[in-house]
Amino acid sequence: MPDPAKILLDDKEIEIPVIIGTENERSLDISKLRSQTGLITLDNGYVNTGSTTSEVTYLDGEKGILRYRGYPIEELAAHCDFVEVCYLLIYGALPTSQEIEEFRTSIRQHTMLHEDIRTFYNGFPRDAHPMAILSSVVSGLSTFYQDSLDPHDPRQVEVSTHRLLAKLPTIAAYAYKKSTGQPFIYPQNDLNYCQNFLQMMFAVPSEPYEIDPDFVDALNLLLIVHADHEQNCSTSTVRMVGSSDANLFASISAGISALWGPLHGGANEACVNMLEQIIADGGNVKKYVDMAKDRDSGFRLMGFGHRVYKNFDPRARIIKKACDKLLAKLQISDPLFEVAQQLEEVALSDPYFVERKLYPNVDFYSGVIYRAIGIPVQMFTVLFAIGRLPGWLAHWVEMHESPHKRICRPRQVYTGATKRSLVPIKDRG
Ligand code: CMC
Repeated sequence: MPDPAKILLDDKEIEIPVIIGTENERSLDISKLRSQTGLITLDNGYVNTGSTTSEVTYLDGEKGILRYRGYPIEELAAHCDFVEVCYLLIYGALPTSQEIEEFRTSIRQHTMLHEDIRTFYNGFPRDAHPMAILSSVVSGLSTFYQDSLDPHDPRQVEVSTHRLLAKLPTIAAYAYKKSTGQPFIYPQNDLNYCQNFLQMMFAVPSEPYEIDPDFVDALNLLLIVHADHEQNCSTSTVRMVGSSDANLFASISAGISALWGPLHGGANEACVNMLEQIIADGGNVKKYVDMAKDRDSGFRLMGFGHRVYKNFDPRARIIKKACDKLLAKLQISDPLFEVAQQLEEVALSDPYFVERKLYPNVDFYSGVIYRAIGIPVQMFTVLFAIGRLPGWLAHWVEMHESPHKRICRPRQVYTGATKRSLVPIKDRG
């Protein structure tokens, strides 16, 4: 055990244990601080607060390192398919050939939605945002699968996990079909995970649909780089909701809602909207960089900046390369990609962005790839949710298996009115 840290409070010395992670990250364990001193710690936005120990994902924001279960994201993106990465995140080790085949078979068995779930879609307005549909339908799964809701039964948890991995692409594709008025396309289980999703999105009963292998590869890569990112807003939400022993479907539905916001997963949609606005406004990149620097404008460069990455986002590098390759192969010249590159160049040579260590994040170029594949902008964050699902599942399971699990219940520093007496309504002026 390393020597404890010491703090001096009212002339009393208090020892704070120092915890060291496997990558030698040091942290202060303040869990006994309140019982020792009566004081809590305050950390708006949890900028400096570790909510848990975790073995799932390692991230070093200074060095731009991201590893799932110890494996660098660059290697996983180059050599794995998304389902293998799901297995790795959830079970903690890369699968053998037999393990992955059993896993794929199990997921295939659950891809269809109950026919009564299909009728939910009749009730949503045509222009409903697909993230709202996604979170509602996932929450609704707990009404259909009451046989797998017990968070303390490992077999039930596993069945719910496989159901979610299998059904989320179907739920998502149906949300898109609803928006276009086209008939829903049932999953086809001889296709792989990404092929199946593209088929459910873009096939129509009236003509054959050919799945482009380049689209499959690009989608596979995007899902892998989004698969986990340790204690981000949506993952922390999934853990927080799950900590009350709420069922897995309820917890994941809450995570989807958290991801929707433009400061989190919604940034990919917001980023493409911003790039389109810049083009419509004459392509004056500098004007938008200046606006982003002006606090009073309320404008931010979407797809720029990250709470943790302060040098570069390794996911953004992988995606930019893939984006370049895909556009060249498809011989597409997308003005959005050109404006994005210009914006990156201008921003990265501007002291405002350099001083604040603001770099393009995972969402800066992902939208350009989604567009090339034909995914409509409202579906971008849905794709992020499909990618992030295994991370949410891995963290939810890890939390439940931890001997230290407790309901998450932060404290506060109260700054409201002190005690006052109630004035009857007739006397209030
Ligand atoms: N454009 C302009 N200025 C920015 C930006 C931006 N995109 N991001 C941060 N800043 C400035 C901010 O105004 C502040 O300046 P000052 O020190 O003068 O007050 C400074 O940089 C630090 O920003 P912060 O808001 O305190 O940083 P944060 O860690 O709380 O926020 C963030 C991180 C990702 C929410 C933020 O950078 C942001 O709003 N980015 C745009 C939205 C976005 O792209 N989100 C996707 C994140 S990656 C995908 C995911 O994992 O969710």
